[in-house]
Amino acid sequence: MDELTRIEHLNKQALGELAGVASDAALRDWRVRYLGKKSQLTAMLRRLGELSLVEKKAVGARANEVKAGLEAFLAEKEQALSKARMVSLAGDEALDVTLPGRTPPVGRLHPVTRIIYEISDIFASMGFQVLEGPEVELDYYNFEALNIPDEHPARDTMATLWVDYEKEGGQRPMLLRTHTSPMQIRFMEKTKPPLRIVVPGKVFRYEATDATHIPMFHQIEGLAVDKGISMAELKGTLYEFSRRFFGKDRKVRFRADYFPFVEPGVEMAIECAVCRGSGCRLCGASGWIEILGAGMVHPRVLERVNIDPKVYSGFAFGMGIERLPMLRYGIDDIRLFYGGDLRFLRQF
Ligand code: DAH
Repeated sequence: MDELTRIEHLNKQALGELAGVASDAALRDWRVRYLGKKSQLTAMLRRLGELSLVEKKAVGARANEVKAGLEAFLAEKEQALSKARMVSLAGDEALDVTLPGRTPPVGRLHPVTRIIYEISDIFASMGFQVLEGPEVELDYYNFEALNIPDEHPARDTMATLWVDYEKEGGQRPMLLRTHTSPMQIRFMEKTKPPLRIVVPGKVFRYEATDATHIPMFHQIEGLAVDKGISMAELKGTLYEFSRRFFGKDRKVRFRADYFPFVEPGVEMAIECAVCRGSGCRLCGASGWIEILGAGMVHPRVLERVNIDPKVYSGFAFGMGIERLPMLRYGIDDIRLFYGGDLRFLRQF
């Protein structure tokens, strides 16, 4: 077979194969085989020097022609393949459906929500029922029924956001609840002991914002009423909570405190996570951090909801929620929770 016949043969073979090429990878193969450095065509062009002058002219011209032809068909095929990948849209717009997609951002629970679930789970496992209550509350439930009458100085400790209740069509004074304690009354009005509940939710105070204060934060209220409940049950339950939430080694301290709706009243503190009791900036050099108020439900509170304090007794507690993730993760500014900065929120 002379060189010219060989070229024609090669050309036919190459074009025949190109017609069957259906992918970018197959096209790359084809190009290497017929136009690459080690292809027959390239070899032929290299061998031109060995031919006579006449032959060289004829073979050279045809070989270059075929090469140019194959290159043109290659370019055409490339275009055809890329067009096939496009899904055509309106007009002459097109979409390459083989491009990698964009990952949509995946949402997650807010760190405060997660802590609420975790705390609720701990109490639920000890037999407490988890429920919620209204954020706009009657003065009666927020103060009055909790032994905090109109002129009581304890009202001054809770900077209250009042609702213009007459304008809102209300009959009695209303406010944004300053604590979750009103749910103690609401629940006991409807349910007689034995009862055990925890009530997580938002509370509101009319306060200036800084690293440790915001006008809206969360609390979780606890209430247990039954025959024969004493301070021992209160301490046992809260110790157990602390062991499960903070770990076995963290010390817990109870001290006497005053809240109008309990008698006696206590505050519970845990050993500071940073200094482990020796005193630092976080705990104000005391070594302890207060996390909740608690006590034995005041007999007058029970009487008001028609539960006989001679038969029944109970304990209650109210815990600030934001403090707990702050202590656990070392977050030094409460405003971070509500700033909506995803760089902060994505860490949880
Ligand atoms: N409601 C109180 C507050 O916000 C906390 C509290 C103290 C709740 C004692 C209780 C309790 O149930 O027994 O400051």
